[in-house]
Amino acid sequence: MESLAAAHNALMPRLPRIGDPAPQFEAPTTHGTIQLEDFKGTWLVLFSHPADFTPVCTTEFIAFAEAHSTLKEMNTELLGLSIDSVYSHISWVRNVEEKMGVKITFPVIADLSKEVATLYGMIMPGESTTETSRCVFVIDDQQIMRAMIYYPLTTGRNIDEIIRLVTALQTTDQHGLATPANWRPGDRLIVPPPQTQEEAEERVQDSSVECTDWYFCTKKL
Ligand code: BEZ
Repeated sequence: MESLAAAHNALMPRLPRIGDPAPQFEAPTTHGTIQLEDFKGTWLVLFSHPADFTPVCTTEFIAFAEAHSTLKEMNTELLGLSIDSVYSHISWVRNVEEKMGVKITFPVIADLSKEVATLYGMIMPGESTTETSRCVFVIDDQQIMRAMIYYPLTTGRNIDEIIRLVTALQTTDQHGLATPANWRPGDRLIVPPPQTQEEAEERVQDSSVECTDWYFCTKKL
């Protein structure tokens, strides 16, 4: 007999998980039809907002637009999404430019069908069934899901933290080192702990790293 868990899993959409390929989609946006595949070779920050013409979302859009050139320098693109029409998106981004003087330079998915929102689990029914929560998906240049952040409707995101997260992931990929709490570029990095007793003995003798103990070693780039 099928277990309750298996029956539940069969009914639930399989939500993205860190380390899995990001779910593919094709969607209408303010820059025309876009497929996830179009971003292959580029890192992507895919983010959802609850609704156009709302104040917290407006502050976030301005902050994302201001971060866009920094992200581009990191081979990273931005793609927004909400359950609004493309006409609403066009009207809102024009309004933001006219009233706040900030041009929204990244595309925004018009997900009226909720297809992409459902595929990525952006709707949190306990919070709202008609709006996407403030979700952030960091997808790498191989289209692997690398990180996910979820914020509620009432809390605007920290865009500096999203830049820090992408920087940390790219630094880890480049150097095989991990990043400690509150890491910032220029800070020391964490050397992954040894996996064998022999490696532990070698690690404490390694003059290229600074060890507090065999499992806690850091390195400056
Ligand atoms: C806002 O963006 O201001 C907002 C959106 C949904 C709920 C609360 C605030």
